[in-house]
Amino acid sequence: CGIVGYVGPQSALGVVLEGLRRLEYRGYDSAGVAVLADGGQSTAKKAGKLANLEKVLADSPLPESTIGIGHTRWATHGGPTDRNAHPHLSADGRVAVIHNGIIENFATLRAECEAAGVEFASETDTEVAAHLLAATYQGTPEGPGRLAEAMRTVSRRLEGAFTLVASHADEPDTLVASRRNSPLVVGVGDGEYFLGSDVAAFIAHTREARELGQDQVVEIHRQRGVTVTTFDGAPAEPKAYTVDWDAAAAEKGGFDWFMLKEIAEQPRAIADTLLGRTDGQGKLVLDEVRLTDQDLRDVDKIFVVACGTAYHAGLIAKYAIEHWTRIPVEVEVASEFRYRDPVLDRSTLVVVISQSGETMDTLMALRHAKDQKARVLAICNANGSTIPRESDAVLYTHAGPEVAVASTKGFLTQLVACYLVGLFLAQIRGIKYEDEVAAVVAELHRLPEAVAQVLEQMEPVRELGRSMAEADRMLFLGRHVSFPVALEGALKLKELAYIHAEGFAAGELKHGPIAVVDEGTPVVVVVPPRARDLLHGKVVSNIQEVRARGARTIVIAEEGDEDVVPYADHVIRVPRTPTLLAPVVTTVPLQVLACEIADSRGFDVDQPRNLAKSVTVE
Ligand code: G6P
Repeated sequence: CGIVGYVGPQSALGVVLEGLRRLEYRGYDSAGVAVLADGGQSTAKKAGKLANLEKVLADSPLPESTIGIGHTRWATHGGPTDRNAHPHLSADGRVAVIHNGIIENFATLRAECEAAGVEFASETDTEVAAHLLAATYQGTPEGPGRLAEAMRTVSRRLEGAFTLVASHADEPDTLVASRRNSPLVVGVGDGEYFLGSDVAAFIAHTREARELGQDQVVEIHRQRGVTVTTFDGAPAEPKAYTVDWDAAAAEKGGFDWFMLKEIAEQPRAIADTLLGRTDGQGKLVLDEVRLTDQDLRDVDKIFVVACGTAYHAGLIAKYAIEHWTRIPVEVEVASEFRYRDPVLDRSTLVVVISQSGETMDTLMALRHAKDQKARVLAICNANGSTIPRESDAVLYTHAGPEVAVASTKGFLTQLVACYLVGLFLAQIRGIKYEDEVAAVVAELHRLPEAVAQVLEQMEPVRELGRSMAEADRMLFLGRHVSFPVALEGALKLKELAYIHAEGFAAGELKHGPIAVVDEGTPVVVVVPPRARDLLHGKVVSNIQEVRARGARTIVIAEEGDEDVVPYADHVIRVPRTPTLLAPVVTTVPLQVLACEIADSRGFDVDQPRNLAKSVTVE
């Protein structure tokens, strides 16, 4: 989500709306603002793009004010409606809150507020923070810093990831903000102060920025300026820096392309997708999946249906779901599915995967499945979009908006969601016990760190990419779960760099594809973990085979795998990861490679020719 706050001499609404315009890429399913005027809060909020809110404000203007907050939303809890748009007010209307992130323990806190008589006006996790803050403020002694103190008390009770910004009608010169696992920067101008989810929020006004650390609260006060403390109240020194980006670069977080920014966001996106999925005992609770346990026990066959990159996520899901649940899984591209009369009935579960939730082929497949009485579960990144609306159940990936046409963080979070679905089914059907599920979930929680490690080592991969700009074709090989990874690597290269590329199951090499290998043909091989002895050895032999025919071999292998070294022209290392989860780490270098090759060839990485982000025709 996008967050803006302002205190200073200018009209707050103008500054806030301008900031929101620059942040719209962070979320665009609803928007809202709150300013402090005439001793109270004045708010406006509206579902849809920012333009909808601007129209509301043009029709019924808010009173003049020099302090205000604003938000563009990318829904997580609660659909994208006017009611669920931020800011959220406390019951007495005195406190306004905007939020980016996920408050994991919101159900418990909401129950507590309701027991105290509070009526909720929305379905969001955010609203709980507004009520808690209003109540805590009342119990906090008067004096400077009172709102910040209340914010610290509330923040200590929240679990999950959040940036919260709040104002109180009793404090017309103060904004406070709190941060855990979600970004927040402060802009310092001449007698004016800004808050933003990133510097794009205020770059038109100042380049002086302070970055808040983890678990810190900031107060910005018209006279006292910026005061930062930890959640416990100890003074803290924020990191000061000067932004040297222009506005366009700021939107991309300083990266050359949205795609690179989104690749870099993957550790966070995976962590967010995993937030709040287990109870205290390690048992998976997918409360968004509104199918009864009995429905899920009755499932005797699963179809995974999707397009493009999402289809590749489905291919990987098959290995994990079949292994963990022993339910047969078929994977199919959505555009083929309904035209071949697939065998579906009440006990079939159809899992549709779509980042945008609007892909027409996938939607038509979903409708066909429902006509045939199958149950449909959607894995989707866009809350409230058509596909989840029409499905029986939904599991949202919390990747945040994806701007680049080629999917990256969308894909990795789809994988994580598929793993969760497989484990959940296994748990409900009694095939896996809670402790076994907990063990795999613990492995899933290690993935953000593993992906971060891969990202740290990407410089040589970029260099390699630049050296390959002249390639006219490329092969990608993998086995088992790495076979779909090879397909995804080839797809990325085709869509971004317009180089003909194909992915193959490495075992098929000898049955045909090896004929195209010749002097200098780049061949990327995704090697299975060494723990899988037989497969590992066979893939190492495949590397030798293509090398012997003159291929330039680029090998993705786990740390410590020395067997590949003699046959690899380039080795890209990834951390050791359990086999079924390995695609989450091995895909990342392929994304970077495709991006860099496309960039070196002078192409628009974010908007490749002939492609669209969501294809709404069949
Ligand atoms: C388009 C995009 C692909 C994407 C596919 C599925 O073809 O260009 O990058 O993978 O649609 O999109 P979805 O939103 O359904 O995941």
